Amino acid sequence: MPVNSPDNPARKILVTSALPYANGPLHLGHLLETIQTDIWVRYQRQKGNDCIYVCADDAHGTAIMLTAEKNGISPEQQIANIQAAHEKDFDQFLIRFDNYHSTHSAENKRYSEEIYLKLKANGHIASREIMQLYDPEKDLFLADRYIKGTCPKCKTEDQYGDNCEACGATYSPADLIDPKSAVSGATPIEKVSTHYFFTLPDFEQFLRDWTTGDSLQKEISNKLGEWLEAGLQDWDISRDSPYFGFEIPDAPGKYFYVWLDAPIGYMASFQNYCDRSGLNFDDYWGADSEAELYHFIGKDIINFHGLFWPAMLHSAGYRKPNAIFAHGFITVNGKKMSKSRGTFIMASTYLEHLDPEYLRYYYAAKLSASIDDIDLNLEDFVQRVNSDLVGKVVNIASRSAKFITKGRDGVMSPTLANAELWQQAVIKGEEISELYEQREYSKAIREIMALADTTNEYFDGQEPWKLAKEAGKEQLVVDVASLCINLFRLIMIYLRPVLPITAEKASSFLNADLNWNKELTPLLNHQINPFQALMTRIDKDNVAAMVTASQQGQAEVPKPAKKPTKPKQSSSTIGFEDFEKIDLRIVEIIAAEHVQGADKLLELTLSLGDDGIKKVFSGIKHAYAPEDLVGKLTVMVANLEPRKMKFGMSEGMVLAAGPGGSDLWLLEPHEGAKPGMKVK
Ligand code: MSP
Ligand code: ZN
Repeated sequence: MPVNSPDNPARKILVTSALPYANGPLHLGHLLETIQTDIWVRYQRQKGNDCIYVCADDAHGTAIMLTAEKNGISPEQQIANIQAAHEKDFDQFLIRFDNYHSTHSAENKRYSEEIYLKLKANGHIASREIMQLYDPEKDLFLADRYIKGTCPKCKTEDQYGDNCEACGATYSPADLIDPKSAVSGATPIEKVSTHYFFTLPDFEQFLRDWTTGDSLQKEISNKLGEWLEAGLQDWDISRDSPYFGFEIPDAPGKYFYVWLDAPIGYMASFQNYCDRSGLNFDDYWGADSEAELYHFIGKDIINFHGLFWPAMLHSAGYRKPNAIFAHGFITVNGKKMSKSRGTFIMASTYLEHLDPEYLRYYYAAKLSASIDDIDLNLEDFVQRVNSDLVGKVVNIASRSAKFITKGRDGVMSPTLANAELWQQAVIKGEEISELYEQREYSKAIREIMALADTTNEYFDGQEPWKLAKEAGKEQLVVDVASLCINLFRLIMIYLRPVLPITAEKASSFLNADLNWNKELTPLLNHQINPFQALMTRIDKDNVAAMVTASQQGQAEVPKPAKKPTKPKQSSSTIGFEDFEKIDLRIVEIIAAEHVQGADKLLELTLSLGDDGIKKVFSGIKHAYAPEDLVGKLTVMVANLEPRKMKFGMSEGMVLAAGPGGSDLWLLEPHEGAKPGMKVK
């Protein structure tokens, strides 16, 4: 077992989780990330390493400014309220930051200005005029998502400025029919403004070296590699007033885009911690720092952390992270979290009904080092927690303890009944330790549960409850029970990063520490305390109550009701000759692929048999995995005017029914239909 010593000194590690937006309450998706990080941090600390964990609220941007206005309070008040709620939720989920700060802070202003000025001095800031849509009533430049209008392709009303939820078309807001500002309802006008850009292409070689280094997850290097292949672009880092953020030095009325100062918030939070604790900032962030630095993030923000951030740090003379640890997204019962299904669960709603350690355990049992999405299946959640933690782990202690407390005053045996079992469990610990280090938590949990199974089987095989009734077997009974208590202690040492409260209770029951930074030795002749309940079973009624509460959505930010997305013509009739104009064909999907940078689209390659091949972009990404489509037949409109989209030419559309999102179903013909056949 590696023990910290002069030859093996404690590692100096600084860890962050992504900074949640100060625009709304935390939900179980945010918690996946902080729980993943917190487990890793607690593991490092338990191993004797110096591991510092900082985070902050991400407080800037237009959205926060508008929310504050709607609530009739200042942005400062808005972000203070949300931050208080975030900190409370994190605390109750047992997330132990060393510091939780805000990007709207003096430290962050200082570092943002300093880094910007260094980038500028190094020649990596450009400025030029760009044309943007502008809300003349609100006096506000409008980001794409603040513009709504009718889709130029399928004519569905009330679509956002960059893509249509109904047909999947992507376009620029200027293409929308009858565009309106989502903020005021006014018709936007085009207006020119000077913007500042970070010239990312200057860092191509640096980024190539960084992405091909061996410290990044394969999936991240691949993604970054694709972006590099596609060609790096200048990054627009300024926004016009009114904006809630930091004004750019020497550029009145221009503000740093929220994503410029957000990652700098990691530094700001750490600086704030240094000021309180006396640590030296440069020991961690200096260009030649030997400390380790890791950012835990979701897969949606890899580009910010994998491209812009290291380039900024590099140019400004700071060290870059050792690695970025990205995770996938949470689905609930196999689907995207949904308010109407009651699966968009706020952290605070969960806490009203359930113990935080249940979720910590379930997430741990599912997490790996990959960016695959993770499903919180609520039935499996109840099943798994109850059978693993209560049925297996706690059971060992509760059934063994009574043979030691009764008649022995709680003093454990002076010998190990089966030294080999003990030794195997100690050796397993090294494997489990390495799995934590690699963020392979689900594998670690599997090993720990196998240990619990072995222990329970040993107990059952020895039948101490029978031995207790036989004369002369008193010592054997205590020996067996003591070994099981010793194995229980090992199991709790291994589970402690995940279940800090249960571990604390176990530690006081065992009257022993649960450290992992020294050689693990058995408790012999050791006095334990009377057993107390360590954990109760999940009652599935509480889960149901949580879902109902989430459906009623007290904690949710209300969203404006969506207008029905009916095509205008649906109530009137058309002549047959109109129908005949549509060339509907049976097609075979011969390839289906994700589209870089599009979150709703799949690129489909369709065979029309003898009539050739067509490519279409279809907004069905949330409903289908590409690999499930290949080889399937469906119906397409083959004579739709080809459309140039951001990602390429779309030569028609496939037909699907359903309200959208994950609830979409492609048409499929009965068996016998062949690619190319006309549908009439
Ligand atoms: N403010 C930015 C991050 C700035 S970091 C310098 C942001 N905020 S967020 O609130 O939208 O998300 C915070 C983190 O939570 C991100 O890493 C994001 O990937 C993660 N998650 C948000 N929803 C999630 C799920 N449904 N599932 C898993 N993680 C998700 O992005
Ligand atoms: Zn459309």
